[in-house]
Amino acid sequence: MQSALNTGVDRLYSWAACFYYQGTFTDVGGATGLLNGYAIPSGYISVSQVDRDKWDQRYREGAYAERGHPAAFLVEHVPEILAQQLNAKTSNESLRALDIACGAGRNSFYLAGLGYQVDAVDVSAEALNRARATGSDHHASIRWVEHDLGDGLPADLPPADMMAIIRYLDLDMIRAALRHIRPGGYLLCEVHLATEQVVAGPSGSAFRAAPGALLDAASGMEIISYWEGVTRDPDQALVAVARLVGRLPP
Ligand SMILES: C[S@@+](CC[C@H](N)C(=O)[O-])C[C@H]1O[C@@H](n2cnc3c(N)ncnc32)[C@H](O)[C@@H]1O
Repeated sequence: MQSALNTGVDRLYSWAACFYYQGTFTDVGGATGLLNGYAIPSGYISVSQVDRDKWDQRYREGAYAERGHPAAFLVEHVPEILAQQLNAKTSNESLRALDIACGAGRNSFYLAGLGYQVDAVDVSAEALNRARATGSDHHASIRWVEHDLGDGLPADLPPADMMAIIRYLDLDMIRAALRHIRPGGYLLCEVHLATEQVVAGPSGSAFRAAPGALLDAASGMEIISYWEGVTRDPDQALVAVARLVGRLPP
């Protein structure tokens, strides 16, 4: 059994890993892995576990409890896209949406309310529990999936007509996620943008996209719109974001 001291040291090591991680290594008690080329002995807490703990803790402490409204960016674009998709539909099957890093589900509920069948993926069990406990008519249309996107997307996800990635930055994952969009389907992605201005949101540059980086990640898509800048959220917080609407060629 580990001593409290050892556990503390491991945790410290893991937090450091969070910032310097480049390779992959497995979960607590797993095999040796690589961090910046150095071997990590079995028994250390993985980046995944640290991320999961961090986000669970945040949600447990009430993060985003006041943010029930869907992302303004989705509200601006989805209705028009949906109208086109319904027009072009040739089968009785529901249109499918994929909400990546869905958090407590504000955008999943919005998409389900519009009629999409939604797969909603997040690493945090706390966030998903909050989502499940949210009173809504739309739970039946949403499948909540607890999954670490550091491992890629869940293999069993059906292809999506609409993929939403809101305020979760992993450009490699975004590139890979394009494979899960149906030909002719859409990506709506909003990420925090690197800026010199004082704005709300993550302080670390690792969690903010460099100008143009989101556009690069979506190469191969038809870009319907792209915007970078500083704006206000519905709660009036000042935010710097990059917003992309892309369509996969049919
Ligand atoms: C800023 S929140 C955004 C949540 C949601 N998209 C929204 O707009 O309300 C970022 C989300 O990413 C999730 N997340 C962070 N790392 C993750 C990972 N490795 N795999 C899956 N989800 C992750 C967190 O749990 C959190 O819910």
